[in-house]
Amino acid sequence: MFRTIIAGIGKYVPENIVTNSDLQKYMDTSDEWIQERTGIKERRYADRTSETTTTMGVEAARIAIERAGTTPQDIDFIIFATLSPDYYFPGCGVLTQRALKMKEIGALDVRNQCSGFVYALSVGDQYIRSGMYKNILVIGSDKHSFGLDFSTRGRNVSVIFGDGAGAVVLQPAEDDTRGILSTHLHCDGESAELLAMYNPGTHANHWLDQQLADFDNAEIGEMFMSHAMIDKAQNFPFMDGPSVFKKAVVKIPETVMEALDTNSLRPSDIDMLIPHQANLRISQFVQQKLGLGDDQVYNNIQRYGNTTSASIPIALCEAWEQGKVKERDLVCLASFGSGFTWGSALLRW
Ligand code: COA
Repeated sequence: MFRTIIAGIGKYVPENIVTNSDLQKYMDTSDEWIQERTGIKERRYADRTSETTTTMGVEAARIAIERAGTTPQDIDFIIFATLSPDYYFPGCGVLTQRALKMKEIGALDVRNQCSGFVYALSVGDQYIRSGMYKNILVIGSDKHSFGLDFSTRGRNVSVIFGDGAGAVVLQPAEDDTRGILSTHLHCDGESAELLAMYNPGTHANHWLDQQLADFDNAEIGEMFMSHAMIDKAQNFPFMDGPSVFKKAVVKIPETVMEALDTNSLRPSDIDMLIPHQANLRISQFVQQKLGLGDDQVYNNIQRYGNTTSASIPIALCEAWEQGKVKERDLVCLASFGSGFTWGSALLRW
């Protein structure tokens, strides 16, 4: 069995910076509220007409591929994690294959929201370990700005999210002292509707009884996305923020400890923890609970907001570019998000 290394890493964030004050033009909020509750100062929004989840992912991928010393033609599998695909179907993986003029390789799309990158990394790790593929491109990219409720009604969600992409190229390690040591994935579907975008969707389930009544009045073609759904803001993400917060501060430390225990290591052995950038307060809770120092945790939510599946690879890329992640460092990636889903990956860089 081969160990998997991250042979190249890249990131892309749009040029357009949107400050908290900019958001005040659309909704009743304040810089003070947003910074105090989330730590966010600004985020990036993609260009409305020229940038998509795929184009951002492709830009990050180009850098990762070059840094890995490879070309797009060397890649033999794509894994693309996103919650905001360019199309309902097909997924962003095939659009990446087209954009980078790659061979007719396989492309897999992962739908695990903020945990998407850790899930995608875990899948890629298994393919490399088994010897099936030698160069896997893993992308996490999200364009939130196209689908947020910018009225005061949606302010608890809209101020948090930003756009961006990160990518890595996975390869087999030359020796087994470096690379991904283990990955750990979890979910709790009981909480599926606490952080979700309900429509467009094919559901017709118990918890949306009222919506079923709306169906009676809808034309057949409207059932997938009716006017009533739009009136109820069900085409925008819904989030029960406090419930997400409470679960995240338990599950993130738990999955970090799971990764450390599996490898007979302790929190003090971690050189850099890259937590999913959901909220600076969540990261601070996690840091405190694990007893980590400031130099053991990397946060950049202040500048990018929550970029969902892109948050971990963007943060990892920045930490590496700044020399805060060096060869042989013990790096832990930890995620939590909609589903609920959570997970970790422990690697020797
Ligand atoms: N600006 C100003 N006020 C806002 C606001 C905003 N952007 N968003 C919500 N508020 C208001 C609410 O309306 C509420 O007002 P009320 O007390 O008059 O009813 C008040 O602030 C408190 O709302 P609440 O939702 O209880 O705040 P909170 O302290 O829990 O903070 C979050 C809200 C969203 C920042 C916080 O719950 C959170 O970060 N949760 C986790 C979210 C997350 O990580 N999501 C991604 C997971 S991957």
